[in-house]
Amino acid sequence: MERVVFSLGGSVFYNNGINFEFVEPFIQYLKRLDRKGAVVIGGGQVAREFIEAGRRLGLNEYECDLIAIQETRKNATLFLYAIRSEDVYPRVLKSAEEAGVAINHYRWLVSGGFFPGITTDAVATMVAEAIGAPKVINISRVDGLYDKDPKRFKDAKKIKRAPIKEFLKIAVEGDQRKAGENFVFDIIALKIAQRSRIQLEFVPPNIEEIDKAVKGEPHIGTTLYP
Ligand code: UTP
Repeated sequence: MERVVFSLGGSVFYNNGINFEFVEPFIQYLKRLDRKGAVVIGGGQVAREFIEAGRRLGLNEYECDLIAIQETRKNATLFLYAIRSEDVYPRVLKSAEEAGVAINHYRWLVSGGFFPGITTDAVATMVAEAIGAPKVINISRVDGLYDKDPKRFKDAKKIKRAPIKEFLKIAVEGDQRKAGENFVFDIIALKIAQRSRIQLEFVPPNIEEIDKAVKGEPHIGTTLYP
């Protein structure tokens, strides 16, 4: 069975409350999809709140990351218990290595973050590499990647298709490696995807668009190819 990894933005999973409108149909979708793989979930709004509080109380970036990782793992645990069945690995992943072993015995794996200094986008590509998935589907609130920040620039253009290499230049510019930073897409994730020839699909939280991306059909978002 072909493998796929989903990177589910924390702000899609939780936005002033759990986003049941998306999470419930997404779980049903995973159950009927003829694929196996992993779902990696981000920290979202609550992780950012705790990072801000941590900074104010004098914590360093490493410590803020550690707290945010706990939030990603809390989200992942909720998702794991909600999707639980015989073919779902019954733990939240702690490493890509664990994913590589577990995928031989289970259909779906669930993960939050792994370690400080990266994001769950990087985790998703590391897991994809470990389990041999040719594709990572990034589900976030924006409907694709833009050549500049669409919230700040009216003339920002959506990128439909681009080589990873080209997008790396845009991603490097904004990257300060701060805890909770709103990366366009983590450059570590881009590098991992490039070296292992993993395609990256960026779609909004819409099951139809996600399904098109999974099946390799044209969709509303962005495709970055190695
Ligand atoms: P993410 O930035 O991956 O979550 O992790 P997110 O909420 O999904 O981001 P959006 O909503 O798509 O924008 C939240 C924070 O957790 C820490 C980082 O500080 C990161 O910014 N983190 C996450 C790690 O330190 N290591 C990890 O492996 C994952």
